[in-house]
Amino acid sequence: MQLVIIAGGLGKRLRPITSTRPKALVPLVDRPMIVHTLDRLPPSCDEVLIAVNFGYEAVRDYFRNHTSGREIRVIQEAKPLGTAGAIKNVERRIEGTFVVYNGDVVDTIDFDDLVRAHQRGRGIGTIAVWSVDDPSAFGAIQVEGKRITRFIEKPASGSGPGLVNAGRYVFEPQVFDFIDGGREVSLERQVFPRIIERGLTPYRYEGWWSDAGTLANYLNAQRLLLAASRAKISPEADVSSAVLTPPVHVAAGSFIEGKVGPNVVFGRACKIGRAHISDAAFLEGGSVDDKATIASSILGAGVAIGEGADVRDSILGDGVQVPPHAKVAGERLGK
Ligand code: GTP
Repeated sequence: MQLVIIAGGLGKRLRPITSTRPKALVPLVDRPMIVHTLDRLPPSCDEVLIAVNFGYEAVRDYFRNHTSGREIRVIQEAKPLGTAGAIKNVERRIEGTFVVYNGDVVDTIDFDDLVRAHQRGRGIGTIAVWSVDDPSAFGAIQVEGKRITRFIEKPASGSGPGLVNAGRYVFEPQVFDFIDGGREVSLERQVFPRIIERGLTPYRYEGWWSDAGTLANYLNAQRLLLAASRAKISPEADVSSAVLTPPVHVAAGSFIEGKVGPNVVFGRACKIGRAHISDAAFLEGGSVDDKATIASSILGAGVAIGEGADVRDSILGDGVQVPPHAKVAGERLGK
């Protein structure tokens, strides 16, 4: 079975982390975001097409150097074609029923079970759905019996739990008849409402799910992965002077002091003084001086946080330096 991963968005909501690398390659705990998805695929998925616009060269080069036991083709889009246009762009490579995954989701979906549900449903498409407490940030999906009956683009907030699109689909090739070629087309906004009459099957699954495309969702995805025992302290890291509240992940070459956790990830070669850090991701090579506080933030490669600084609810790009005693709250710093 062929899988198309759509991974060519600009990732604006994670900037500036995504200014210097495509979202698919943004580190999430211990590997690039898209690799979490690839690692869970069963043998029945024998070919993966990764559709990329922004950051094509970086994704191509990554997969030249990392094999995964199955054929992976990185397909370049000359211009961003949107979530449906990206699929249309690979039409000539598709040989039958095919699966589509968003590249910025982590979850426990069972690929084979999703495909079986699609075959039982006998519709033109199947959309995996996930129940959330507040669907207003996503767009809700209405289900009646074994069919999707409506897409509600902007559900009112506070209207209670609802089903959202999990970004995992199965399609029959007839879907291509409903997507114009060569221009930007959205699956969610333009194609699904047009094909609903042809039968769209909802697929529910157990375990966990998170989008990772915003600061809050990225940190949520990190929490889920850490809880799913991805947290490791490398034997080549030094945490002997730290007070750790698990889960905390520390990659090789990092030296950590201070009070750290829960839900903190340090990439390679970070140097962290006697600071307070919770719910944060350091991509690699960051440093934090004593008495600083970091919470609910993503910190790019080589960031340097001065003594006593306070950073929260922020994304700091690669190489950003925060002066001693500065306060950074709800900001995006860096290019
Ligand atoms: P934002 O700019 O922050 O909205 O992120 P995004 O551009 O990635 O958009 P969004 O999160 O809605 O995209 C959902 C999935 O579709 C992600 O995996 C994107 O990489 C992918 N995607 C979005 N637009 C395109 C596109 O034009 N081409 C391709 N190939 N993939 C896309």
